[in-house]
Amino acid sequence: MNRSSDSTTPLRRILFVCLGNICRSPAAEGVFRDIVTRQGNPAEWTIDSAGTGGYHTGDLPDSRMRIHARRRGYELTHRARKVTESDFDDFDLIVGMDNSNVANLRRLAPSPEAEKKVVPMAEFIGKAMRYDYVPDPYYEGAEGFELVLDLLEDGCQNLYNTLTNLEK
Ligand code: 4NP
Repeated sequence: MNRSSDSTTPLRRILFVCLGNICRSPAAEGVFRDIVTRQGNPAEWTIDSAGTGGYHTGDLPDSRMRIHARRRGYELTHRARKVTESDFDDFDLIVGMDNSNVANLRRLAPSPEAEKKVVPMAEFIGKAMRYDYVPDPYYEGAEGFELVLDLLEDGCQNLYNTLTNLEK
């Protein structure tokens, strides 16, 4: 993972990004927020999500995603929004769910420094999960949503460990 230019600055402002911002990235936001709340100090963190597309702007997460997340204890209340250029200033790390999200984010980045903030979620997902991206569940059944949550619980915990261990 690329570090900020000042290696003593903790990376605490995290933006999760997918296509629609109604399935994968709001779930990632909820899972990561839960980890921070249980294991750290939420006041130190800025956690948000956005989509590369704006079709669902203002919508709550997809009802299927909310139901599957709630069963695991996550209440998803985010309202969908599109990624903006200012997100590259407002966040330290911009985590794309799949290769298409990552490619779109890199294209949107206003500078080479901004582009370095973009990382694939898969970078943090354990090899045993056997996925190198978080698959879009929108046209899938219940198992697609469960898979997303499995991958995000693993990846978000590893991301949290990575970011907090950087200062040790
Ligand atoms: P997400 O899933 O990118 O995980 O939020 C999708 C939601 C909606 C659409 C595509 C993907 N859509 O085309 O409307």
